[in-house]
Amino acid sequence: MTIQQNVSLKSFNTFGLDVKAARFAEINSLASLQACIKSGIKPILILGGGSNMLLTGDQQSLVVKNNLTGINVIKSFRNKVWVEAGGGENWHQFVGWAVQNGLGGVENLSLIPGTVGASPIQNIGAYGVELKDVFVRLKAVSLETGKTKTFRRHDCRFGYRDSVFKQEERGKWCITSVVFSLTRHQHRLNTSYGDIQKTLESNGVEKPGIADISRAVIQIRSSKLPDPAKIGNCGSFFKNPETSPAILQAILATHPQAPHYPLQNGQVKIPAGWLIEQCGWKGKRVGNTGCYEKQALVLVNYGGATGQEVKNLAYAIIESVHQKFGIELEPEVNLL
Ligand code: FAD
Ligand code: EPU
Repeated sequence: MTIQQNVSLKSFNTFGLDVKAARFAEINSLASLQACIKSGIKPILILGGGSNMLLTGDQQSLVVKNNLTGINVIKSFRNKVWVEAGGGENWHQFVGWAVQNGLGGVENLSLIPGTVGASPIQNIGAYGVELKDVFVRLKAVSLETGKTKTFRRHDCRFGYRDSVFKQEERGKWCITSVVFSLTRHQHRLNTSYGDIQKTLESNGVEKPGIADISRAVIQIRSSKLPDPAKIGNCGSFFKNPETSPAILQAILATHPQAPHYPLQNGQVKIPAGWLIEQCGWKGKRVGNTGCYEKQALVLVNYGGATGQEVKNLAYAIIESVHQKFGIELEPEVNLL
């Protein structure tokens, strides 16, 4: 393991922002992670696929790129298996491995960029499934002491795009592996969300299996989300906000078509993409950044943007949504 200096992070973040890391190391083993911690350089920033971070400037920390790999079945039950995957495994490739091996549970999470190790950080979710639905436990190394700790589901306090690792444990751990519970037969297929059923029908699939669902999700996502290899982005920039029924009623009075979903806690969720589009941002370009033409929730770098420009755009959007609807959008992306 070598610690390099002044390394460009442009190819390590999906916004394609050209910032530098004062110190940078890639880890392929637990020993090299321990060596980084023992170097005493602080703070340490763990980098996965860089697909959920907005780098607003050069990073003074020791940036550690997690390349810990390995996918192993560690327990077999009659209808399920526990699979342990290294934190540096590519998430979509892990999903592909599961689908190819006939293992169900993660097919709705196909094509989400990034790594296995980052998947619990914001409890990734898509098309009616969240990471917590298949999560068993994870191993993490303390960036302070170098000691390993196992976090079980209740320790992680998963919520919508949230976990303990975005709250009080933020920046304190390197997640080195995650154990998932996947089904071997009698998969619990989830086809009710969004356009999945419609896409399966147009693909001529009557009795879908996990591979059909994975394919449908890939098709839907590819049709509306920009490919970071072509246009820099981090997926949804904001979370979908929870709001009160009173605010919803006020919005419905002037916008009767406003989409909204009731939540179990009595609040309602209103898609941030709709709020942003209503404020006139969809497809709008500001300098080298903008709001994606097919999905208003996605901010993009058309090339040459700085993190600060993207941040300015994000705050202008927050301000205008607040003024028009009285709702405060919260970034989903980690601002660094
Ligand atoms: P990074 O961006 O590298 O890191 C994110 C944060 O986690 C940082 O704070 C980092 O320090 C920390 N971190 C990373 N790895 C570790 C680790 N091993 N241990 C401790 N801390 C760590 N997300 C969804 O939930 N659903 C979606 O449908 C979705 N769609 C997307 C579509 C596109 C086109 C893009 C670009 C992004 C999308 N995302 C989505 C967001 C993103 O893919 C996920 O948040 C993903 O889990 C980030 O993984 P990463 O490895 O790139 O994390
Ligand atoms: N909408 C608009 N205009 C837009 C975009 C969306 O009006 O430009 C409205 C429409 O009513 C649409 C609704 O918003 O029906 C929902 O849109 P979409 O199905 O595209 O999903 P989303 O709520 O924008 C969420 C996640 C995505 C996830 C998809 C599918 C968040 C913040 N985003 O997006 O996750 O892939 O659902 O489950 O929860 C991510 O987290 O990075 C991400 C991409």
